[in-house]
Amino acid sequence: MNQSFFIKTYGCQMNDYDSDKMEELLTFNGFNKVTNFEKSDVAILNTCHIRKKASDKLYSDLGRLSIFKENKNKLGKQMQIIVTGCVAQAEGEEIIKRNKSVDYVIGPQNFHIIPDLVRKKNSSKVYTDFLCEEKFESLPVSNVKNISRLVTIQEGCDKFCTFCVVPYTRGAEYSRPVEDIFAEVLQYSKFGTSEITLLGQNVSSYSSRIYEDSKKKEVPLSGLLKILSRISGLKRIRYLTSHPSDITDELISEHKKNKLVMPFLHLPIQSGSNEILKLMNRKHTKEEYLRIIKKIKKEVPKMAFSSDFIVGYPGESDTNFEETLDLIEKVGFASSYSFKYSPRPGTPASTKKNFIDESTSNMRLKKIQELLNKQQRYFNDSFIGKTMDVLISGKGKKENQYVGRTPYLQPVHIMSSKSLTGKILKIKIESLTSFSFHGKILN
Ligand code: SAH
Ligand code: SF4
Ligand code: F3S
Repeated sequence: MNQSFFIKTYGCQMNDYDSDKMEELLTFNGFNKVTNFEKSDVAILNTCHIRKKASDKLYSDLGRLSIFKENKNKLGKQMQIIVTGCVAQAEGEEIIKRNKSVDYVIGPQNFHIIPDLVRKKNSSKVYTDFLCEEKFESLPVSNVKNISRLVTIQEGCDKFCTFCVVPYTRGAEYSRPVEDIFAEVLQYSKFGTSEITLLGQNVSSYSSRIYEDSKKKEVPLSGLLKILSRISGLKRIRYLTSHPSDITDELISEHKKNKLVMPFLHLPIQSGSNEILKLMNRKHTKEEYLRIIKKIKKEVPKMAFSSDFIVGYPGESDTNFEETLDLIEKVGFASSYSFKYSPRPGTPASTKKNFIDESTSNMRLKKIQELLNKQQRYFNDSFIGKTMDVLISGKGKKENQYVGRTPYLQPVHIMSSKSLTGKILKIKIESLTSFSFHGKILN
């Protein structure tokens, strides 16, 4: 009988993409996907290392899973536990030392070896080399119809913000060849994908080369957007995450000219204080950030922005924090994520002595979230009574209900007795409950 597998995914969309790819790879190799760990012969935990809370989840899940494996073994059944993702890369052998039931530890650039590893059983247990090129070349492309698809176009990060583990867990920046990305997106579009989100931790510094008229030509992100938008059937293109110091005029111009590129930009700033930005090694100032926002809004007035913020970075004073609130007031974000600073092993910031106490960080987080939620509510409220283009991604929870997304990723619920999946419809927005719209189709 075929072996079964289950994957639990933690962390960011790059991990979601990797899990999709592991699933496709295993299915392609004759493994069966099951709906929980209990039913699986191969249990994969695709982990995230970004904050302590995220990586702690691995060990609590491993605790439960190892008891389950033991019980299974007592009944004469086998189970393999594989830890993949960013904790695997960061902690390697340590994971097996902490929990002996783990069979393999496989970093984010190595998961293409899983089918072989599971079948053949290998004496080496830890695989953490940076094999981007080899990995992408080994991945199959699924023929499952999905209205929206994630496509990783770049791995790693060369920015080395002082708080962040990504340059260590994902390695150096690597941009996938244009031809490979094109082929992958083309395949998805043939199977009914309307929307793609191009992924990378630093996607605005994407750079690859193609041959045109027998000359090598540099293709930046703006060029890639142009090339991909030629694929028929594709209706929307998004990309994330961008870094403020890589936003070029060409990219802004692509937003202006290319109807497929959505008017929504995730552009994390982390802090509104120049002092803290410098300590974070963010390579840009608050003024530069505001200039970029202004420039984009001038060229593309309907553009909306989201960001990430860290509160309680070592040394952050009340004044520094107030500057962040001030920046948020100045920009007006459509939505944002905010986090309490979490010291990560191996990062420069974790060696600092001037940590901010927990209660101050908690207070700052509460304050920033109140402001960001207020802005999100204000942004959403401005659409009530208006008509928006909504891409319908599938059925909702209720009978005859469909769900879709606006250009700004706001969820919309619509009632219809006819199937709407995959269509872009003009929807009149009638109401808003928490963060989701309800609307009706305009005839
Ligand atoms: N490449 C993106 C996102 C990186 S990870 C960028 O440059 O912005 C996603 C978010 O997690 C970051 O934007 C940051 O806000 C947060 N983050 C990263 N490391 C963190 C840490 N040590 N503590 C708290 N939040 C962190
Ligand atoms: Fe981390 Fe900074 Fe790279 Fe983003 S740009 S992944 S925050 S090091
Ligand atoms: Fe987490 Fe790795 Fe993504 S650390 S945020 S899964 S790149």
